[in-house]
This record gives sequence, structure tokens and C-alpha cells, in this order.
Amino acid sequence: MEKLVITGKTPLNGEVVISGAKNAAVAILPATLLINGCCTIENLPNISDVKLYCEILEKLGAKIEWLSPHEIKIDNRNITSHIAPLDTTRKFRASYYLIGALLGRCKEAEVGIPGGCNLGNRPIDQHIKGFEALGANVEVSQGNIKAKAKKLTGTSIYMDVVSVGATMNIMLASVLAEGTTIIDNPAKEPHVVDLANFLNTMGADIRGAGTDIIKINGVKELKGNATYSIVPDQIEAGTFMLAAIASKGDITIKNCITKHLESIIAKIEEIGGNVDANGDHLRVWYSKRPTKANIKTLPYPGFPTDLQPQMGVVLAGASGTSIINESIWESRFQYTDELRKMGANITVQGKTAIFEGIESLSGAPVNATDLRAGAALILAGISAKGITEIYNLNHIDRGYENIEEKFRKLGAKIERISE
Ligand code: EPU
Repeated sequence: MEKLVITGKTPLNGEVVISGAKNAAVAILPATLLINGCCTIENLPNISDVKLYCEILEKLGAKIEWLSPHEIKIDNRNITSHIAPLDTTRKFRASYYLIGALLGRCKEAEVGIPGGCNLGNRPIDQHIKGFEALGANVEVSQGNIKAKAKKLTGTSIYMDVVSVGATMNIMLASVLAEGTTIIDNPAKEPHVVDLANFLNTMGADIRGAGTDIIKINGVKELKGNATYSIVPDQIEAGTFMLAAIASKGDITIKNCITKHLESIIAKIEEIGGNVDANGDHLRVWYSKRPTKANIKTLPYPGFPTDLQPQMGVVLAGASGTSIINESIWESRFQYTDELRKMGANITVQGKTAIFEGIESLSGAPVNATDLRAGAALILAGISAKGITEIYNLNHIDRGYENIEEKFRKLGAKIERISE
């Protein structure tokens, strides 16, 4: 078992370079299944979810060549199966994109019900509604999802809830369908736009990604033979922005798209932090104790749920009483139990957490209950008095590349220890 050991009260200073976006990479990798040819993907984050996806693609018949730790060439001319390795797909959430991609390519898909972070109820009814509207028959039984269609035909699909996964999965299933598919009320996250850009680069005809309506004109084939670079990770950038404030530091964040970070910039400035945003990089620095704030997580361009725990660490040390309303995931306050072990004064009532700011957290042994909770606990450990030990690192490694190395370069006293 591994743990991170952090000696706290170290202001973080210096530069950090942001990796490619996890939530774009885990959609673009399965999207390559729609290509009857080769493609090259650059700026892939070196994280365990990406490695898992590459293993799955190889088992389906893809030939993958690693050109560098962040760049692969995939040859998908000989996909031999529509059945994803069920034990592997059950290990992580983003395996649900295999349903849309295999359905699009083979008109048939079999995938284990996706696992992933325990954030409460995670239904996929909107994905299924979309596949069925396109003409597929979908069966969920014995822990598997089976989808099959004689033919996929474009249609209009209204999303009852704004869902990142359902928007992207329907996009995948409809790229090679006959006719035009309209997705009404789609998610607008940067990774939705990135998937559309990737597919268009490979020969698809998708318009409107990032707006209120996405229109997908089905094409006969995606030929590929192109290179695509994955968008920088908005959540990793936001994590380091909040780390600058939590640690009382001064960090320059490079290789990010500041337009994607507007809601975070606005909140950091509201609580008294300083931000200087400049196209593909920004500087965030602390000059005084943050003040209280009220936050509600929302789909993009609102404040992202994936930065809620990291913001919670900042508010745990802010002056006054702050309120966070979590509107996306019912169990995303599990990290507050861990912060309480470090002395935080937080009360959770359903979807709302109330933070009575304290002067300083104190180090303690804590558990990373999910990916972003893990990131938040690193911020907490760096800002706390004394020593913090973080367990369950597998969650963190799924989504952050070289996390302790990046924090160490900024001055954090952080070590990974095998027990
Ligand atoms: N929902 C439904 N029905 C569906 C799909 C979603 O009711 O068919 C509900 C969910 O229960 C939730 C809301 O809609 O309340 C939004 O869910 P969404 O489908 O957008 O989430 P997701 O696609 O499963 C992705 C990210 C999450 C991120 C959310 C929200 C990936 C692989 N995961 O999940 O990322 O929190 O969007 O932005 O892209 C993370 O990176 O730590 C993470 C959990």
C-alpha cells in the first residue's frame, strides 16, 4: 500500500505545466474506434485511466504505438470484437463511452456496467434514451449493457438533464448514423467541444458543440490519418489555482486555456485572491486571508463540481461562514469527514455544506475517498500544521499526472511511501 506524506505550512511558489484533460482523453480514446484507419493523439495525460483505456482498445484489436509518454499512434483498421473486456470496463466510469463508439462502428456493443468514483447515484438513463432514439435495442442485465441496432438513424434527442457523458456518448453513436442527429440541451464542457473537434478532424460533421444545440450530420466513414492534440485539463489547472491560495503561495500555471477557467477566476477574486490571466497561462497569488463565499456547483460554464472539494479546503480556512451547494453529485461531501479529522468546522445537510472558517488545519491520517477528494486533501495537507498522511492513492493516480512531482517542484514537502 502506498501513502502520501506531507509536511505542511509550505507556501507553493513557481511554475507548473498542465497536462492534457483526463475527461477529454477518456472520450477521445474510445472515439478512435470509429476510425477505419490510423490517427495520432498528442498531449495525452500519463494517468492510469488512459493506460486502462489503451489496454481495452488493444484487446478489441487496435494496434497502439507509444511515440512518447504523451503521444500515441493508433491503427484501428482491424477491430475484431464488439465485446469490451467486462472485468476492466467495470473498473472505471468512462468505459461507458465504449457503448456509443462500438455501437457506432459495429452496430453492436457489450460493456460491463461502469464503475468509477463513488459519488452517489450515477444513472445512465440519458445515454440509453439516446441510443434507443437512434434505433438501438439496449438491454441491461447481469452487470452488463448490451446494445444492438440493425441501423442507426439520426433523430432529435432532448436531454432531460445536462449530462457530459450522455452528450458525448450520443455524439459517438451518431457520427456514422444515417441522416442528422440533433442533441438539444447538451453539456457544454470544454471536453465536449474537444471530442467534437477530434471527430471533425478525423472526418466527422459535428456543429454547435459548446452551444445549446449540437447537430451531427452522419458521414459514411471516418478515415482518420490526422494528428490531434488534447485540450489542457481545466480541472488540473483549477486545482493548482486553488493550491496557490490554500498554501498562501504564488503559482504561474502554464499550458491552460484561461477562458475555460472563468468561473474559478471569478470566485478566487471574490474571496480576495489575485489572478492575472493571459491567454494560455495565468498567475494566482495569495495576499490576504480569503473571505467567506457561497458557491453552487453547476454544469459548464458554472462552477465545476470537480473543483468543489478543492474550493472546500480554501473555505475551511476562510474568514466567516461559507456555504457550498452541490447540485451534481449527492455524495461529493465525503471529503468533509476527512477535513474534520484535520480540525475543520464543517456541517453537511443533504446537498449543502456549511463551513465555519478556522485559522489553520492540523495534519492527520486521511483517506482519498475519490479522485477530487484526494486532490483536495493534498491541498489541505500542504496548508496544515504538521504532518498529513493520505491513503487510497489509486483514486488520485486515475486522474492526475505525476501529482507529487508537480507539487514538489512548487516547494511542497510531499513524499510517496510504500508500506
Ligand atoms: N445523470 C442522469 N442520467 C444520466 C446521466 C447523468 O440523471 O443518464 C445525472 C447525474 O446523476 C448527475 C448529472 O446528471 O447528477 C451530471 O452527470 P454527467 O453525466 O454530466 O456526469 P458524468 O458524465 O458521469 C462527467 C465527469 C465527472 C464530472 C461530471 C460533471 C467523466 C469521465 N466524468 O461525469 O468527472 O464530475 O461529468 O461534470 O467525464 C471527475 O473527473 O472527478 C469526475 C467525477
